[in-house]
Amino acid sequence: MKFSHEWIEKNPWLLIALVTLVVSVGGAVEIVPLFFQKSTTEPVAGLKPYSPLRLAGRDIYTREGCYNCHSQMIRPFRAETERYGHYSVAGEFVYDRPFQWGSKRTGPDLARVGGRYSDEWHRIHLDNPRHVVPESNMPNYPWLAKTKLVPEEIIPKMNALRRLGVPYTEDEVKAAPDELVGKTEQDALIAYLQGLGTLIKARR
Ligand code: HEC
Repeated sequence: MKFSHEWIEKNPWLLIALVTLVVSVGGAVEIVPLFFQKSTTEPVAGLKPYSPLRLAGRDIYTREGCYNCHSQMIRPFRAETERYGHYSVAGEFVYDRPFQWGSKRTGPDLARVGGRYSDEWHRIHLDNPRHVVPESNMPNYPWLAKTKLVPEEIIPKMNALRRLGVPYTEDEVKAAPDELVGKTEQDALIAYLQGLGTLIKARR
């Protein structure tokens, strides 16, 4: 019997099996090498695990659902790099578990917001965004400035990250609560925001 496409196309189950095979092999060929490529698995130069204060801030960012309106991933398009700075690279996120890339942009991308504003600007903005950006529809987060962190809570968080391969030392974990004493949730969130994307600074 001569091989013909018609024969495959008239056998739905064979067609399904062959399509599945082709898509799986094609997918594996594209995806598997990424696990072994330095550019996708190694931290960018100078990247350190989050300090205890920034780590606490990161948790507040996720708790408050900031990712529902803000992405943290600058795509390599002119319109994005002109506005936000250098596009995001995989090596910037190796200590982000889970990453906050997102895709919803009711507000601007925050991947490189670090250093763009003063801490004081962030304080006013988080208390009531309309005090600095009158047309803003971002919610107020006034409780962040009034709520103190619970320093001991950082220990299990850091230990969990250690188990996932983040290189915190035992001494760093032990000393971590001291860094949080007397700090508010707002202090932590601002410390987190001010560090975002600062390792790769170049604009456009
Ligand atoms: C309902 C959507 C929404 C939510 C939720 C939200 N934001 Fe925003 N955010 C905006 C919008 C819209 C802007 C642009 C106007 C402005 O600056 O207020 C903005 C602006 C910002 C800016 C300034 C960015 C820049 O480059 O000018 C920062 C920083 C920021 N938000 C942080 C946060 C944080 C932190 C949270 C969580 C606590 C949060 N946002 C939650 C909508 C949101």
